[in-house]
Amino acid sequence: MLYAVIMAGGSGTRFWPASRTLRPKQLLALSGQRTMIQSTSDRLSGLVPAERQLIVTNKILVDPIAEQLPEHPKENLIGEPAKRDTAPCIALAAALIAHQDPEAIMAVMPSDHVIATDEQFCGAIAAGERLVMEDPSRIVTFGIRPTYPAESFGYIQRGPKIEAGGDVDGGTEIKAFQVDQFREKPDRETATQYLESGDFYWNSGIFLWRASVILDAIKTNQPAMYSHIEKIAAAIGSPDYETVLEEEFCAIEGTSIDYAVMESYANVAVIEAPFSWDDVGSWQSLGRLHEADADGNTVVGDHLGIDTSGSIIFGQPGHTIVTIGVEDLIVVQTGDATLVAPKSAEERVREAVKRLKETG
Ligand code: GDD
Ligand code: MG
Repeated sequence: MLYAVIMAGGSGTRFWPASRTLRPKQLLALSGQRTMIQSTSDRLSGLVPAERQLIVTNKILVDPIAEQLPEHPKENLIGEPAKRDTAPCIALAAALIAHQDPEAIMAVMPSDHVIATDEQFCGAIAAGERLVMEDPSRIVTFGIRPTYPAESFGYIQRGPKIEAGGDVDGGTEIKAFQVDQFREKPDRETATQYLESGDFYWNSGIFLWRASVILDAIKTNQPAMYSHIEKIAAAIGSPDYETVLEEEFCAIEGTSIDYAVMESYANVAVIEAPFSWDDVGSWQSLGRLHEADADGNTVVGDHLGIDTSGSIIFGQPGHTIVTIGVEDLIVVQTGDATLVAPKSAEERVREAVKRLKETG
């Protein structure tokens, strides 16, 4: 049986002031009416019903997420007692799923990406499921053709072609390959070599595997992490579960699944993503999601621009933002904070968040 795990514990500080501790990027509607986590869940609905979708997040986000996903059973919203990155998140989800169904296959994905279209996405996931059924110890990844030497992604080197069967959209063949190498966040120089070689993909952050297989891989590569997860798994269904979860999960040393397992796992396949993908990393990436006006401005909300060009304007309906004689600016207005910065300084939004935390 296929389960889906949506990872939703990230903080998304680069989207301040729209993104806040209790309303991080995945809870924002950056590309349309639905929020990113709602779109992630919607996208899966043809393949995995809400009853088999697990949302794993920080415990403080469980209630805000429940409001956005009212159809999901409450017990499918898993609150982590501490932020420990994606490997413990995945290990916990795999333990919960394997407890229900030891044969289960799970598709794991981020909650904060923009992907189109749902049909192509589901076609690729279904192909991944077939690849895992054919070879149970296989891990399936989904690769995006790189367009620049990004240092913030994982890279996947494709090897010999494998037969994935099927197609999407009534014709697009699903292309799958054995993976020669997985490398998380290489430096610029290495990323440039990968890009030029032509046989690397970006890791989309979506994975598919048997729950029992990823648990075994974590046991091999991260025995200390596994021993905590094992104790949590042993307490499932008992009255002590919450106490054990709190204690054992907090004791885990955090790391991402990319470093913990993917860089060393031998049997990995990559499916070339037949869908468009954007990880919406920062305010400027909104420019890729919305059609610009005649002056090259990306506008969400009510805006009057006079001699304004190349800017990102993000406001709220009913609140007019006016800009005069500016270019390449980011202006973000929310109920209690406003950001004004040149596009070239967008990375420094993190600095502002840090300073504001320090000063309370
Ligand atoms: N539950 C939970 N707990 N979720 C988390 C946690 C955590 O502690 N930390 C991060 N997440 C969620 C985020 O909300 C996001 O949806 C997803 O897990 C991935 O985490 P990121 O922190 O955004 O990872 P990344 O962007 O640095 O790198 C990953 O994604 C890239 C693609 O966007 C890697 O898998 C890269 O290899 C990949 O290229
Ligand atoms: Mg990310």
